[in-house]
Amino acid sequence: MLDGKNVFTLLKTAETFLKSKRLSEPESDAQVLLSFVLSIKRSKLVLIRSQKPTDRQLSHYEECILRRSKREPVAYITGFAGFMNFEFKVDENVLIPRPETEILVETVLKLTNIENKNSVLDLCTGSGCIAVSLARLGKFKNITASDVNSDAIEIAKENARINNVLNIDFVESNVFDKINSKKFDIIISNPPYVTDEEYNILEPELKYEPKSALTARDGGLFFYKEIANKAGKYLNNNGFILLELNANKADEIKQVFLNKDYKNIEIIKDYARLPRVLKAKCM
Ligand SMILES: C[S@@+](CC[C@H](N)C(=O)[O-])C[C@H]1O[C@@H](n2cnc3c(N)ncnc32)[C@H](O)[C@@H]1O
Repeated sequence: MLDGKNVFTLLKTAETFLKSKRLSEPESDAQVLLSFVLSIKRSKLVLIRSQKPTDRQLSHYEECILRRSKREPVAYITGFAGFMNFEFKVDENVLIPRPETEILVETVLKLTNIENKNSVLDLCTGSGCIAVSLARLGKFKNITASDVNSDAIEIAKENARINNVLNIDFVESNVFDKINSKKFDIIISNPPYVTDEEYNILEPELKYEPKSALTARDGGLFFYKEIANKAGKYLNNNGFILLELNANKADEIKQVFLNKDYKNIEIIKDYARLPRVLKAKCM
């Protein structure tokens, strides 16, 4: 399909092919994947538009475009995703970090600019994107990151190394089970929160991600309830909980925390004006 083509005609052919498969951003996908295959920045493609890639690069590009045409996410094809301006390694064991999760990280950073908070627990860390970003951008003395999936913990450790972060304790734990007697100033989490009904109608791309990273039982509320019930034991006085929200369930989740006597509950909206972060104080 791509034999003998230069960068410009390659991009056009790939874009037309991906468009025919009804992908929503064929031009961007074609460019990102070609810059990955050629190991150059996307912005440099225009400078080499008349160059012909090698046969090896062509067959690698063809393979990438075919994978994308089957709706595999670009981040799994390249093996990397951007988050808070850092690069994170991703594979099928971890959720691809999402832009809306950056709001969760930014909310914690704003909070720690006002209040002196030294320790943080990132529950359900996955790729480690939240914990590593907080280590790079915050002033925490102690950071613990946990996940039930040992493969995810390995990726998170690698992401800490890639981003030159040395001060995170990684713990394999089913929610709080292995957190032992440690206490934290902040507990942060982007837990699985998709309901079974929501999962069934997700875009095909999300079916490549681990189902255990997306769905939660009890109508998507399982992790919110676990955290509301147990976090008090792991928080210092005046500690905070910060959670990413299932925007469809924000009122129900807020109620879960109101029922457990958390105070100063705030809901922070994302750029689409959807309720995205819950912040609550544990007195
Ligand atoms: C929505 S992903 C979040 C990943 C990452 N923090 C992010 O924001 O991109 C949820 C994570 O929760 C983990 N998880 C699922 N069940 C868990 C459990 N019972 N205890 C701890 N972690 C769990 C999954 O392995 C997955 O990595």
